[in-house]
Amino acid sequence: MKNIAVIGVGYVGIITSACFADLGNSVCALDMDEEKITSLKKGIMPIYQQGLKELVDRNVKARRLTFTTSYEEAINAHRAEFVFICVGTPEGVDGEADLQYVRAAAKSVAEVMDHSLIIVNKSTVPVGTGDWAADIVHESQPKPIPFSVVSCPEFLREGTAISDFMNPDRTVLGSRDLEAADKVAQLHLPLRAPIVVTNLRTAEMIKYASNAFLATKISFINEIANICEALDADVQEVAAGMGLDSRIGPYFLNAGIGYGGSCFPKDVKALAYMANVKGKHPQLLNAVMEINEFQRRAVVLKTREILGEDLAGRTVGLLGLAFKPGTDDMREAPSVDIARMLQALGATVKGYDPAAMEWASRVMPDTQLANDAYELVADCDAVIVCTDWNEFKQLDLERVKRLMKRPVIVDGRNVYDPDTMKGAGFIYRGIGRGHGAVGV
Ligand SMILES: NC(=O)c1ccc[n+]([C@@H]2O[C@H](COP(=O)([O-])OP(=O)(O)OC[C@H]3O[C@@H](n4cnc5c(N)ncnc54)[C@H](O)[C@@H]3O)[C@@H](O)[C@H]2O)c1
Repeated sequence: MKNIAVIGVGYVGIITSACFADLGNSVCALDMDEEKITSLKKGIMPIYQQGLKELVDRNVKARRLTFTTSYEEAINAHRAEFVFICVGTPEGVDGEADLQYVRAAAKSVAEVMDHSLIIVNKSTVPVGTGDWAADIVHESQPKPIPFSVVSCPEFLREGTAISDFMNPDRTVLGSRDLEAADKVAQLHLPLRAPIVVTNLRTAEMIKYASNAFLATKISFINEIANICEALDADVQEVAAGMGLDSRIGPYFLNAGIGYGGSCFPKDVKALAYMANVKGKHPQLLNAVMEINEFQRRAVVLKTREILGEDLAGRTVGLLGLAFKPGTDDMREAPSVDIARMLQALGATVKGYDPAAMEWASRVMPDTQLANDAYELVADCDAVIVCTDWNEFKQLDLERVKRLMKRPVIVDGRNVYDPDTMKGAGFIYRGIGRGHGAVGV
């Protein structure tokens, strides 16, 4: 049992807190957002994540998990040996990562700490941030108290965050202080994953390189999808055929409207920024971003091909709004850009999502929100599938067709089978499904 303080109870912080507590540690989770902490104390979760409430409730009840807004309480009163920094690192100017929250957290830790600490950074931060954070702690300490900085990038995915945390493919640790890295490794031993120990900068780079590679896979298959459309091949079958090759693997080969969310867009941009600053020309990363942007436009183009160039007087429904299923996260969700483009062309836009309605109402104020999928499709001239939630996979197609003004489905996630849709009387466009995907 170790005493751990976690700073930030967003997606990464709340999962880290609850999971480390569940492994038997004593965790005090801190956030500067009083509302989040007050809600957590009442058992209200700050994010949508299946299984999270049960996990938090169980560990709060067992007194292994507490919440606070006070650094003094989380670090000193709690006698924390480890402090995990899990604050946001959003996109800043020109794509550079904005480190203001990491700076503030490091400073606050330094100002209160009354005993030695291992400061573990889980936020995704530019290469070199570990050393920079150590300098901030040194400068901000009222009197020198020893500490070590360890980079421990997080690889969890929203939607499957708890099982990802509990069953990681690997744990990456970077530090100048091998003893501190070893102590952090001990904390992760129950997870039974390979542990890679390296230096700070390399650990930070592993996170960016991993995300950039996954984003590249997505843009790659999207480019193949666009070529498939021109050559009358089906990208779904191409991806399945490719994925059976163990050198390629089946993951991240789903053609669609591209990646979104709080990580890939900003991390690819931040890596390209780091390269540019050092005089390198990140050609591949630039292409990955360009293709990703195009995919959002592609579904609008497909809709216009069917409904006509001018969308004034047309109603388009967006089925699914979150950037992916299993989360309420609307950060960089393709649906937001798609809605904006359609509205600029004069369309009325409706939207529905099983989890992200509250967040969507804040970021898409001009989009009419429906209460379910059938209310969404009612009176639409076209529906664009933006998120592949399971509940959309077996809709009553007869009912959908009856409710729509025109039976036009632009399937941005290739959820439906083109032949089935054609058979059901829809005008259907998938992504990269060849001419067979075109209905009548
Ligand atoms: N969301 C993911 O799926 C994911 C996965 C892997 C890595 N990451 C990385 O993890 C980091 C956190 O991401 P997130 O999605 O959890 O962010 P988030 O925005 O959901 O949460 C960050 C939290 O930190 C709090 N905070 C900010 N500054 C603070 C301070 N000085 N003191 C106390 N609390 C503070 C905020 O109030 C917020 O609750 C980012 O660097 C992100 O790139 C995210």
